[in-house]
Order: sequence, then structure tokens, then C-alpha cells
Amino acid sequence: MENTQKRVTFGGKISAVLVAAGSAVGLGNIWRFPYVAGENGGGAFLIIYILCILIMGLPLMIAEFSIGSASRHNAVGAFRTLGHRRWGGIGYIGILASVLILGFYLVVAGWTAEYTIHSLTDDLVRQSDPTFHQRSFEAFIAHPWKPIFYSTLFAVATHIIIVLGVKQGIERASKVMMPLLFIFLIILAIHSMLMPGGMEGIRFFLTPDFSKVTPSSVLVALGQAFFSLSIGLGTMITYGSYFKPKTRVQDTAIEVSAIDTMVAMLAGLMVFPAVFSAGIEPGAGPSLVFITLPSIFSSMPLSQLWSSLFFLLLVIAALTSTISLHEAITAYMHEEWKLTRRSAACITTVLTALLGALASLSLGILDHWRIAGLNIFDALDYVTANILLPIGAMLTCLFAGWCFDKQTFASQLYPSCQPKPFFGLIRFMLRFCCPIIILLIFLHNLGLL
Ligand code: TRP
Repeated sequence: MENTQKRVTFGGKISAVLVAAGSAVGLGNIWRFPYVAGENGGGAFLIIYILCILIMGLPLMIAEFSIGSASRHNAVGAFRTLGHRRWGGIGYIGILASVLILGFYLVVAGWTAEYTIHSLTDDLVRQSDPTFHQRSFEAFIAHPWKPIFYSTLFAVATHIIIVLGVKQGIERASKVMMPLLFIFLIILAIHSMLMPGGMEGIRFFLTPDFSKVTPSSVLVALGQAFFSLSIGLGTMITYGSYFKPKTRVQDTAIEVSAIDTMVAMLAGLMVFPAVFSAGIEPGAGPSLVFITLPSIFSSMPLSQLWSSLFFLLLVIAALTSTISLHEAITAYMHEEWKLTRRSAACITTVLTALLGALASLSLGILDHWRIAGLNIFDALDYVTANILLPIGAMLTCLFAGWCFDKQTFASQLYPSCQPKPFFGLIRFMLRFCCPIIILLIFLHNLGLL
């Protein structure tokens, strides 16, 4: 109880939505979503993805917010307070996975910072030859220190915001950056759709072609949905613990999921028309936005402006997400290890920046360090998105459905006495549908089914 009174909270409803949307909207939406959709059949993937968000993502986000706001604790403390000591284990998976995600996320975030600076200084935009961009991207990511410099810079920027605190740092940063992000995104999407030949890209993105969909696309869509919504690892539990006690979590979750999906769609509407307009393969993989888009930008009037805007958009999206991952780890160390917030933040920053450096080097001189055939960067991505995230998500569903006190859970959705039809449905999904679907897809992915 004492914890309830002392804990800082976000200013109000809008702040809660902006901060949580800041976590959700990130490189996952603008960098990962378009290439994953491009590789998995465009429109068909979009339909599966939206179903994953509605059926699995939304109940889980409601559960995470509720667990956070009912317990007023970090991810580990929350499960322990509301359940039993053993449930704290789910929180540990989340903290571990957050460290690992930050490890590779900081690297990609660093690339976006470097590309913003190149765009602003006009370096990047002078060449329109795609092979030039491919070569310069490959040379950059394999460089022994440049990408490390930028990812460390990103880690330091994140650190500063975290040390400023939940209200003065995280909330204020989100309130400035999120509106800016929406404005940039809308300008860029409109610009992209008006490009000659852009309609074909829109058709690719919006017309379903189910022949390209395989069972593994469903897992990819589910992993992408969880990653994009920032759920399964306790990030939203940590943010939920800062909600004002009267915040209606289901409204917040619906708004955050809607914003996140809209941004992913806008990113698709921005990337595919540009890609088709330039006659480039949409399944270009992770390098899509770093190679394809710069070469497209450079052939346009005002190329410097578009390119700078685009990469700045990525920087903002990435920063509000690294903040949330960092906060989940910092809050855990601060509350469970009884460190000061500042020391907890320092340990998190140093640890994740070092992991980021290692991940970055694994794309160059440490390429021969392999884990099950993958370099460190790919291994971090694979292990978190395909293993830890689904496991964390499944255990969170089971906890919320079977162990979380029904009355306490319901009171997070409906602070006053109101009819609760929606609650029954959400709880049913969490008890049965979500864990079973996650388990089936997971086993199938491991080749066990
Ligand atoms: N959702 C973010 C994105 O789309 C990434 C992210 C932030 C995340 N916090 C997370 C992913 C927690 C999983 C869990 O880029």
C-alpha cells in the first residue's frame, strides 16, 4: 500500500497514451514491419497481422497494463506481489529479453542517427545509384567503430532521459516527440503516395495474395505484433504501474494498439509506393529502408529534405522505444536491488551499450562468432522475437487468466461498478485462446508439430 502512495504517476490519460504509444511505435513499425510484410505477401500479411493484434495483442496489453496498475511495481515485483514468488520468474524472462532486445535495437537506432546526419550534411543524397547505397551501407555496418559510436550516443541519449525521471524525462520527451512523429509520418506518406508509379506499391500492400502465406508467416505476424505493441516482456507492466489510479486501462490499450497499427500501415503506405515507383524488389529484407529508400530519395527534388525527415522520424520512433526498454530494466534494478535510480540507469546503460557494441562488431570483424549458425546480432533478434517473446507472452496470459485475482483485474478495467461484458471476453481469451494459439504456433515453429 505504501508503494501506491509514493509512486510517481504520469500526468493523465493523454500522457499515458502518448508514453505507451511511444514505446509501441518504434523501429518495429517503420523499419521492421514494411520489410517483413514485403517478404510475406504484402496485403495478406497485413490481414493476418491485424487479426493477431485484435485477438492476441489487445487482451495481452490490457493484461499487462492491469498487472502494472494494480501492483504499482516493476515487472518482476508485479508478478510477485499479485501472485506468488514463483511467478516472479516471468518478470525475469522479461528483464533478460529487454536487455537482449536493447542490445540489437541500439545498433539499428545508431544507424538511423548516422543516416540522419548524413542526410543533413548532404553526403547521402548526392548519389542515386542503388549499388552505391548498398556498398556504403554494408561498409558502414561492418565498420569497426563508427556504428558503435552512434549506438553509444543513442544509449547516452536514452540514459539522460531516464535519469531525468518518469515525469520530467519520459513523459516530457514523449509529449514532444510523439506529435512530431505523427506530423513527419503523414507528410512523408502523402509525398510517397503522390510519386509516379506509387499506386502499384499501394496495391501490393493492400491486395491480399494468400499464395505467399505459409504457416511460418503466421508466427512471423504474431511475433511482429507482440514486438510492435511492446508486449510479452513486462514493458507495459512497468508503464502501467505509472498510470494514475483511475486510468481505464482498456481504453488506453485500445488507443495505443490503434495508434501502433496505424503507424505501421502509414509506414507501409510510405515505403511501398516509393519502392515500386523506383522499380525495386519489395522483399529486400532488413536493408530496405537503409539502401532502397536513400537511393529513391536522391532521385527526387528536395532530396535532402525528404531523406532528413525520414531518418529523423526513425530516430524519434527508436528513442521513445529504447526509453521504455531501458525503464523496464532500470525500474527493476532500482526497486528490487534497492539501488538508486541513477546507479540502476548507469548499470543498464553500460550493460546494453556493451552488448550493442558486440552486436555491431558481429556484423563486421566478429562475424565468425556464431551462435547456432547466427551472428550475435541475428541471434539476439531471433532469440528474443521467436523464443523469449512468445514464452513471456504465453506465461503472462496464463498469469492474468488463472492467477490474477478476478476482482482486482476487473477493477482496473472498470474503476466503478459497471456492467462487465468486455471483461469476461478478455479474461476468456487470456485463459484459453491466447495461450493455446501461442503454444501451437511456437511448437510449429520449433518443428515439433
Ligand atoms: N515496440 C517497439 C517497436 O516497435 C520495440 C519495443 C519497445 C519492444 N519495448 C519493447 C518490443 C518491449 C518488445 C518488448 O519498435
